[in-house]
Amino acid sequence: MLPGRSESASPRTRVFFALWPDEATANRLHRVAVDAQTRFGGRVMRHDTLHLTVAFVGAIERERVADLIAAGNRVAPPFFELSIDLVGEWQRKNLVWAGLSQPVPALSAFVASLRQELLGAECVFEDHSFVPHVTLLRNATCERGRTPISPPVRWRCHDFVLVESQTRPEGAHYAELARWRMQ
Ligand code: 2AM
Repeated sequence: MLPGRSESASPRTRVFFALWPDEATANRLHRVAVDAQTRFGGRVMRHDTLHLTVAFVGAIERERVADLIAAGNRVAPPFFELSIDLVGEWQRKNLVWAGLSQPVPALSAFVASLRQELLGAECVFEDHSFVPHVTLLRNATCERGRTPISPPVRWRCHDFVLVESQTRPEGAHYAELARWRMQ
């Protein structure tokens, strides 16, 4: 066996922290996605999978999930609201998303403190250039445009979640591992 192989052989899981919309908000975002599909084609994300990733941890050993939950326990973000007011295009990824035209200080502070806790727990995360977004369409034919959503989708963020992502033939399947209530 090569040096270090035994360590990488432990079971791994692919996880991320996210804001997950309630059903009414998810339905409104889904309508934006269906509308966007008429312009960009591609595949509409299922409404029950719509979310906004705040820290993508990626593949870690399953036993380290406890460290992630402990990190989540130490973050106590206040409740905040998002006004999802634009549809953005990422040409390179053929991806259309919904997001924010203005930074939201409470969201930025939450992301910074969660990432601080993850670093403290020696849990690395990817995506150092964080652009808050909800993926609406994949395999879309898009460029680099930005289009306003009118009226914006109001998203009251009451809690955040730690989610395990599994790739299945029918698409991504997400399983909630933990949930925290905003204060
Ligand atoms: P995406 O929708 O823009 O692809 C589950 O895959 C979630 O993690 C999605 O929100 C996805 O963003 C995000 N994600 C996947 N890989 C990532 C990476 N390397 N860095 C940041 N976020 C990532």
